[in-house]
Amino acid sequence: MQTDDATTGGLTEAIETLLPALERFLQFTEPERTARERAVWSAQLDEPLPQTGAGSATVLSLLRDVVIPNGLRLGAPGFSGWVATMPTTLPTAANLAAVIAGSTYHCIHAFNVLEAQALQWLAELVGLPSTYQGLFTSGGSVANLVGLGAARQYAAERLGVDPARDGIEALPQPRIYASTEVHHVVYRAAAVLGLGRRAVVPIPTDEALRLDMVALRERLRQDRAAGCTPIAVVANAGTVNTGAIDPLPELGKLCQEQGIWLHVDGAYGLLGVLDPRTSHLYGDLRMADSLVLDPHKWLAAPVGCGTVFVRDGNLLGRAFTLESAAYVEESQPVYALDAPLTSQFDDFGNLFIHFGVEQTAPSRGVQVWAILKEIGAEGVRARVCRHNGYARHVAERVKSSPYLELMAPVTLSICCFRYVPPTLRDRTDNQAMTILNQLNREVLARVRARGRCIPSATTVHGAFVIRPCYINPRTTLADVDALVDEVEACGAEAWQAHS
Ligand SMILES: Cc1ncc(COP(=O)(O)O)c(C=O)c1O
Repeated sequence: MQTDDATTGGLTEAIETLLPALERFLQFTEPERTARERAVWSAQLDEPLPQTGAGSATVLSLLRDVVIPNGLRLGAPGFSGWVATMPTTLPTAANLAAVIAGSTYHCIHAFNVLEAQALQWLAELVGLPSTYQGLFTSGGSVANLVGLGAARQYAAERLGVDPARDGIEALPQPRIYASTEVHHVVYRAAAVLGLGRRAVVPIPTDEALRLDMVALRERLRQDRAAGCTPIAVVANAGTVNTGAIDPLPELGKLCQEQGIWLHVDGAYGLLGVLDPRTSHLYGDLRMADSLVLDPHKWLAAPVGCGTVFVRDGNLLGRAFTLESAAYVEESQPVYALDAPLTSQFDDFGNLFIHFGVEQTAPSRGVQVWAILKEIGAEGVRARVCRHNGYARHVAERVKSSPYLELMAPVTLSICCFRYVPPTLRDRTDNQAMTILNQLNREVLARVRARGRCIPSATTVHGAFVIRPCYINPRTTLADVDALVDEVEACGAEAWQAHS
């Protein structure tokens, strides 16, 4: 007998109602109309809070007929924007399983065990020892926040201050050093940690958009003389703009010499260490005190899955531990040490709440476990190498085209390029730059409107560039070629319209 207005049974029927719509969505065969028809479908959803429920059948049919068909097609094979994609099948299924059977990561259950196991596997995958403390987070923003929180703890403790307890008032002029290409979430992390966005010191890059070591050394010297406190150097292991990798071996050495925390933001690119063409750029990752790797990027886990690894787990605990709370600790029976547990709720299992900023959180490890168990380290390596190969393929096509220009070196799976009509080919003056920026904005808009390929864009040395980033497991070489063709075709159209 049902006791609550919400349905608690009939899961199979509910999911089976939605599955055909989801499978259709995953075909990506029909042209996208969601943006153009927003007024039509959103009118079906726009209503006041229902005072009485419409019932499960109504909810399911709205999901099936209105919501799912107008979802976000991040996984379409032609999508290569930002650092975003959709999950593959197994982590999707694992996620659903976790929602039901592992809905939070505490206590004694299989999902809790996989939380720890998946972190160990990920560490091993990139060559980190199992002694690093890993943590799943909601994504790269929080993973960077946690890594930099550990860095703050380290720097302050060296001055005899406990920032977790006392705040950072006693910390003189804290500074985080990062290249001008660092991801913008690092600035926000500095703000949240009370260091302030202005604590982030932007260090110039070389032509290839890697942090300039000479400039960093000089700035550190000046700042030390001025009494500043270095909190961390943030190294990009794959910048979001071009995929550039900062000089990690040199940064590791410098940080070791100067006793500064090295934080590696590899949210996107840490997995590039698996590609023999790029592995040497990572040096020995054990030089890093903290590292970020987002499974919801190149591993194609469902969105909401980042990780951070910190060398010193005790220090991380001192930065983030929760105080005890009667309702939590008092809920645990006192057993003799050798007494068998009798309930899965009598122990918290692998405990992660003391290493980050979440208490109740979903089981995320199962998604990563499912990916690694399904395709293994070699499957991940094959994906990374294939995608890095796609970016190199775009670069080759760009170099051999009279209408395209390569705008940054290709390191990982990003290729930045633009359309240049032959008459503007060798022009570097401001007027030509303005025209080319405007033209390429137009090209991006035209490519997207056609719908076959959806890249994103960025600026490189002030130039607006088309920026495909290949992390999408569904993308084929034909999709990669199609993008170059589309940019050439749309470039010609846009230039003709302009002339
Ligand atoms: C290098 C890098 N760091 C951090 C982030 C932020 O990650 P998230 O968007 O998962 O919070 C991104 C996202 O693209 C990134 O590419």
